[in-house]
Amino acid sequence: MSKVVQQIKQQTEGLKPVEALSLLAKLFPGKIIFSTSFGWEDQVISHIIFANNLPIKVFTLETGRLFPETYYTWNRTLEMYGKPIHAYYPQHDAVERMVSTKGPSSFYESVENRKECCGIRKLEPLKRALAGNEVWITGIRADQSANREEMHNVEWDEGNQLVKFHPIFDWTLNDVKQFIKDNNVPYNPLHDKGFPSIGCAPCTRAVQPGEDFRAGRWWWEDQSKKECGLHATGTHEEAEETFFEKK
Ligand code: ADX
Ligand code: SF4
Repeated sequence: MSKVVQQIKQQTEGLKPVEALSLLAKLFPGKIIFSTSFGWEDQVISHIIFANNLPIKVFTLETGRLFPETYYTWNRTLEMYGKPIHAYYPQHDAVERMVSTKGPSSFYESVENRKECCGIRKLEPLKRALAGNEVWITGIRADQSANREEMHNVEWDEGNQLVKFHPIFDWTLNDVKQFIKDNNVPYNPLHDKGFPSIGCAPCTRAVQPGEDFRAGRWWWEDQSKKECGLHATGTHEEAEETFFEKK
C-alpha cells in the first residue's frame, strides 16, 4: 500500500461520506474529481457533493450510447442542484473510424471489439478527465460483485497515477435506496425496472430476481471478462493495457 493511500485510509477511518469528502476536498484542493454514471450510488455521492457545496468537480463519460433514462436523470440532477456536470466525449475521429469499418454494434462480435469500443468511448476520455488530479471519487460498493469485494475503499490506481476513494464502499443496496428516499434524490427510472447496474444502452439489460447485480452488463460475455476497464483489477488492467499499447 502506498504511503498516501495509507494516510488517507487512516484520516478517513470512521468518517461519514460527507465528512471524508470534505476532508479530502480540503487536502487536495482543485485536484479531486468525481465520476458519475447517474446510477443510484453515484446520485447519492452527487447529492452529498452538491447539497454541501463541496469543491469537487463532477464529470461524466458521455459515450454517445447512454439510455434516454440516463439523460433524463442527468437533466433532473442539473435542475435539482443547479451545479455543473462536465461531459467528456470520445474523440470523434476514433469513433468514426471504428463505426465506419465495423458498424455500430461491433461490441457484440468479440471481446476484442468490445474492449476497443470501451477503450474509445470510455477509457480515453477518462484519461483526459483524470489528468492533473490526485484523487478520483467513485460510487463503487463492495457487494456489487465478487471482484469488487476484493477492492478497498482507498486504493492506488497505477494506470492513472492517483488515489481512488469510494466513499460508500461499505453501503448495502438498501442503504443506498434509503438515502435516496430520505433525501428525495433524483434517480434513474430504470432502477425500478430491473436494472441494478446501468451502463451503455446496447450493453446493459434488466436482470431477473435473484440474478447477480452485474448480470445485465455485457451479458453475452464470459463472467470473467465482464469489466470495461474503468476500474482496473486483474482482467481489466489487461483491457486497459491492450488498448493503450495499440495507440
Ligand atoms: S463499469 O466499470 O462497470 O462501467 P459501474 O457502472 O459499475 O462501472 O460504475 C462504477 C463507477 O464507475 C461509478 O460509480 C462511476 O464513478 C464510474 N462510472 C461508470 N460509468 C461511468 C460513466 N459513463 N461516466 C462517469 N463515470 C462512470
Ligand atoms: Fe461501447 Fe458497450 Fe463499452 Fe459502451 S459499454 S463503450 S457501447 S462496448
